[in-house]
Amino acid sequence: AQRFTEVRHPVPLLSLSNAFDDEEFLAWHTRAANLLETGGFDMVCELKYDGLAVALTYEDGVFVRGATRGNGVVGEDVTLNLRTVRSIPLRILAGNAPSRFEVRGEVFFPRSEFARFNEERLARGLETYANPRNTAAGSLRQLDPRITAERPLDIFIYGLGYSEWDAPDNQWDTLDYLGSLGFKTNPNNALVGTPEEVADYYRGWLERVEGLDYACDGAVIKVNRFDYQRDLGVVGREPRWAI
Ligand code: IVH
Repeated sequence: AQRFTEVRHPVPLLSLSNAFDDEEFLAWHTRAANLLETGGFDMVCELKYDGLAVALTYEDGVFVRGATRGNGVVGEDVTLNLRTVRSIPLRILAGNAPSRFEVRGEVFFPRSEFARFNEERLARGLETYANPRNTAAGSLRQLDPRITAERPLDIFIYGLGYSEWDAPDNQWDTLDYLGSLGFKTNPNNALVGTPEEVADYYRGWLERVEGLDYACDGAVIKVNRFDYQRDLGVVGREPRWAI
């Protein structure tokens, strides 16, 4: 039985290819540099949040639709549930926001809240949940938004889907702009210029990631300039401009 309305994403949500060591990352970087016919390019380092991808649509400053990633092309309409996530703005106040745009982000269940949540369920004789990720997913797919509202879900916005205006021409400025509109972006993003700096970012977070209140399963490295992203393109579902 179908429970949520299907939503077709105007711009598909992509997957990511993986690099499991320095060598694989360097191979990706070299290939991108060769394709772009440039010696180097700026990259944005982000953490890879282990939650649930969503797309949020705003019309005339109002949050009108929130959908899960689904298979990347078709997701589920979970607007009513997403409206209960405190850090998702229901209205964008800035007068210079485009009339229609979509942001993408990852919904997660904070780890500290998850421990508390399971303790409470234990005390009430209810089943406990295995991990924050599945609990975030289960919470978003509740048929009764009042149940979702009781769950302390949070979100990091990591990009723009589409937009009817001249967005910034790179990822770093886009994150900054989305932050200025009131979206919650991650404070641990970094703009770097070399593979060595990427390695430093990655190793630094490998040591500190357990100290964060959200689960991460890697880092996402994105070519900063959008014209470069377009030039590199997408193969299948995997962009060559990110890894
Ligand atoms: S960008 C480049 N940025 O990873 C296309 N995705 O395999 C990917 N994810 O389910 C989107 N953190 O929700 C991007 N900082 C981040 C991310 C991120 C987690 C998830 C995303 C999707 C999967 C892509």
